[in-house]
Amino acid sequence: MAYIQIKTYPDPILRKACEPIESITGETVILCNNMVETMRLAQGAGLAANQVGVSSRVAVLDPRTKKESKPIILINPVIVEQDSEEISEEGCLSLPRFYEYIKRAKKVLVRGINIDGEPFEMECEGFLARAIQHELDHLNGLLLIDRLSPVKKDLFKKKYMKDRK
Ligand code: NI
Repeated sequence: MAYIQIKTYPDPILRKACEPIESITGETVILCNNMVETMRLAQGAGLAANQVGVSSRVAVLDPRTKKESKPIILINPVIVEQDSEEISEEGCLSLPRFYEYIKRAKKVLVRGINIDGEPFEMECEGFLARAIQHELDHLNGLLLIDRLSPVKKDLFKKKYMKDRK
């Protein structure tokens, strides 16, 4: 496994919708393993493939519960049902040191395929449901700043670009 440098805003790859995985190859498995390693080393809750420079619909999540510590690998994930709303604070490895309260569905049902190419379905809520929605946004070329009001987004851009100088 290897750590891959995480792309940060405003890298254009983060703004491009990712392509579906047609078939799982050795390369896909290596990508997933490297993404899990990178997520853990960066202490993130999740990571999307475009954050490590690969424009494919692959995301990894760290469930962060006492019961479950195995990473979740989602290939071609789609949210098929969602319920209720909840506002909570979010951050992103591609937006270092930026945190904001974002409204998301509280519960989601997600479908996709797993690393063995088998259909995968997962129902979850709270932290994990939020992480899934965040990673799916990444796969669609969206960042959490796109969930802000236009005024807040504008403020973010000014401050973030100034801090980078
Ligand atoms: Ni993120």
